[in-house]
Amino acid sequence: MAGAKILIVEDDATLTELVSIVLTREGFTVKVNNDGATALDTAAMWQPDLILLDVMMPGMHGYTVTEKLRAMAATAKTPIIMLTAKQSIQDKARGFEAGVDDYITKPFDNTELVLRVRALLRHIDIQAPSTEESTQPARTLVFFSLRGGSGCTSLAANVATGLSLMWRQPVTLLDFALPIGSCDVLLNLKPRNNLGSMPKQDYAQLDYADIESFMVQHKSGLRFLGGVTHATDAELVTEELASFLIGRIQPKCHYLVIDTSHSFAGPNLAALERADVIVMPVTPDVASVRMTLGALNVLEEIHIKREKVRLILNATFSESGLESERIEKVLGHSIDRVILHEDAWTKAVNFGRPVIQTDPNSTLVTTLETLVWDLSTDADWEKEPDIKSDMWKRVQRRVRQRRPVQGAAGR
Ligand SMILES: Nc1ncnc2c1ncn2[C@@H]1O[C@H](COP(=O)(O)OP(=O)(O)OP(=O)(O)O)[C@@H](O)[C@H]1O
Ligand SMILES: [Mg+2]
Repeated sequence: MAGAKILIVEDDATLTELVSIVLTREGFTVKVNNDGATALDTAAMWQPDLILLDVMMPGMHGYTVTEKLRAMAATAKTPIIMLTAKQSIQDKARGFEAGVDDYITKPFDNTELVLRVRALLRHIDIQAPSTEESTQPARTLVFFSLRGGSGCTSLAANVATGLSLMWRQPVTLLDFALPIGSCDVLLNLKPRNNLGSMPKQDYAQLDYADIESFMVQHKSGLRFLGGVTHATDAELVTEELASFLIGRIQPKCHYLVIDTSHSFAGPNLAALERADVIVMPVTPDVASVRMTLGALNVLEEIHIKREKVRLILNATFSESGLESERIEKVLGHSIDRVILHEDAWTKAVNFGRPVIQTDPNSTLVTTLETLVWDLSTDADWEKEPDIKSDMWKRVQRRVRQRRPVQGAAGR
């Protein structure tokens, strides 16, 4: 129960501050939202263990928020305590009908609030100790290339951001690039802790909450476990640590994206073996094609299925390169997508803003958004998401247009 995540949805700043202090002092992790629409988004992404919800808020009423929370798979069973100044039995009945679990009337005593929170959390602990674990483990996308500078990190960071923005579900980005990771630069994040600062010997004792405390959250909602920043720490990142982290994180998010470095070193192998999809960028030059062929051969030798590999032809340089048909012929593998050379990539790094968050009408963003869609799960394609993001709406329109040409799935 200690460390349980509580989302407070309330527009009264004085009250939220007070409640935050009380609950934080009790060891809970607290997040505050001031309106219902933001709270729905946070609830879907952050997946709190309990929600404290005000009734009268600007925009969306607390009852409506409750109904929407109950309709979302991620929060269908999350305990909700309604905070209200209203006291009539009809009001309370309306709240219970909408799906709240408990009521607390303002002004309330701090001790009473804590007792009610604890009571509800105890209840779910007993009834459903592992609901989160029992869901489908995260679809795991590993970005890999033996050739440095082919756009591996750029694509990993952009796809992870895009998945988070598209589906508004928990997405984690893991930076396994050694000896120094660079996803943090692309996302303009400065994590205090990272892979290199994980305990040297007894990491096996870490549970998911401990691992999550090493992560930082990007504005897109993406959770990010930063890569090594001191090259001397790189040796701490073993295949065992990588396997352990993937095993702990996979059951806790919807998508797991991993950036790797350009070798078959232990942590990369751990990631490749657990990948559902291996995204391999290849630049249109002889050296890159040769290394990609080498990588494909090794994957075959270690019995990783070829079908998992998606090749992306990424023109990191502006000079005319090899034609995609020629590359496909040499590699014996089709190219999934072509990304043209654009200065936007360099600008994005300098501004610390992923390209996918720039102009949605640009060809580059359109290509990346469609790539994100194509890398998503069949289940996500097939049902309408609880929260229809702007990116989802845009891609839906495009996918519907291309369906008659490319078949129902549109892959
Ligand atoms: N399509 C593109 N057009 C122009 N520049 C690109 C393109 N794709 C990537 N870049 C730029 O190429 C450089 C290398 O990209 P990135 O760091 O993502 O590759 P990498 O394979 O992860 O390299 P490494 O891990 O060896 O540093 C970056 O400066 C990035 O901004
Ligand atoms: Mg890289």
